[in-house]
Amino acid sequence: MFLFIPAMTIFTDQPNLHRSQMPQINPKQLFKTAQEILTENTWEGRYTVPSPNLYPYQWNWDSGFVAMGFAHFDAQRAMLELESLFEGQWENGMLPHIIFHSKKREGYFPGPSYWESNKVPGAPKAVDTSGITQPPVHGFILEKIFNLHRNSEEVRGFVKAFFPKVLQLHRYLYEYRDPQSEGLAFIFHPWASGRDNSPLWDDLVKTIPIKPGDIPPYKRYDNLKADPSERPSDRDYDIYVYLMELGKRHQYNGKAIAKESPFLVQDTLFNAMLIRSNEALMNLGAELGINTREIQDWNTQSRKSFEDKLWVEALGTYAPYDLQNEKHIALREIGAYTALYAGVPSNERAEVLKEYIETLADRPEGFRVMPSFDPDHWIFNPRKYWKGPIWPQMNWLVYQGLDRYGFKGTANHVKSDFLDLVDKLGFHEYFDPRKSVADQLEHGYGGDHFSWTAAVVLDFIANS
Ligand code: SER
Repeated sequence: MFLFIPAMTIFTDQPNLHRSQMPQINPKQLFKTAQEILTENTWEGRYTVPSPNLYPYQWNWDSGFVAMGFAHFDAQRAMLELESLFEGQWENGMLPHIIFHSKKREGYFPGPSYWESNKVPGAPKAVDTSGITQPPVHGFILEKIFNLHRNSEEVRGFVKAFFPKVLQLHRYLYEYRDPQSEGLAFIFHPWASGRDNSPLWDDLVKTIPIKPGDIPPYKRYDNLKADPSERPSDRDYDIYVYLMELGKRHQYNGKAIAKESPFLVQDTLFNAMLIRSNEALMNLGAELGINTREIQDWNTQSRKSFEDKLWVEALGTYAPYDLQNEKHIALREIGAYTALYAGVPSNERAEVLKEYIETLADRPEGFRVMPSFDPDHWIFNPRKYWKGPIWPQMNWLVYQGLDRYGFKGTANHVKSDFLDLVDKLGFHEYFDPRKSVADQLEHGYGGDHFSWTAAVVLDFIANS
């Protein structure tokens, strides 16, 4: 596919930036490097790993974004990425957060022998998987692929055949993860939120007592491969293992886990992705002549519950809901802002969300937007995984939401800050949001040659 990428200084409609402050990037070069990362660094023949050293298997929502990246230059690989991912889907519809296509790799904890999916009835026989899921992005990724290749009979056929798999995932979430039939799915593990050690979970996991013998001995590798100061703590990992054990005991059955898990959360990001993906399936249904009545009913209820239950007026934002303790986790955090992409907020609330993002951009100490956690909170840490850094896929989601509501200037600010970071600091996993610090660094944080960083760059540049 031929793609015209003009050499340019992009993003000229930013209200808060003077022309001289606009980042100068080379979109052609960035696009080319992003393509190389996907085709040479992270491609494993039938699927893509997030980062060859740190995450050596196929990850759920990472591969969703990767399929979008491929769709800009290789539709075959985009389709193969989704197909290989859904080879890990369980009979009940659950899509695991890791698919262990290769058993030979070492140096990742927890690998397939820990999860023991092969002992769970209904888990795939041909491939080992984890036992938890991740934010359901696949509906809107399928829609993106369709929209980019709507004239290809092959892609139309693929989308039509693939639609039921995504539908089955959504049906699983409504059937097994929504005990009160509210239209909001719960997660029972921080990894399922996609935002592992977010301060959102700190107070909740502090209440989980771990006694000697509760968890098996284990060895971390992540903090040997990446700077430990940029990774979750050992106490975080003990909790992750404790909750995995609990899941394993119940064969990862959401209904049984709901009765016992101390961690049971209706997350903002997770449900915003579900709603946006429902909407995407409805759009695809209209294009392809598929009846979507069931999805419409789900989505009407999910949108209403999200708006009514997750909004915290005192904060002026949405917040996850802790089902066991029956309260909001009332902190300001990036997941809430992805509700814009799902089209959930009223125009009035959308304005409040947008204004907050603008205040971040205008801070005197100089921040790139949008950090993953509230910089005014004492626990904010601009280097540490989900406690503050800028994450590529999150900023893509925030951009899409701002754009959807017509906040073009703020949207472009988010996009240009992100591209500027990648241009300066490489295709890393996450980035320091402080301008004065990031501008002195030589690279970003966490893993390098990161596949969804490449994918997001490809989509941003192709749509500029
Ligand atoms: N993000 C987790 C990890 O660091 C699990 O998905 O391995």
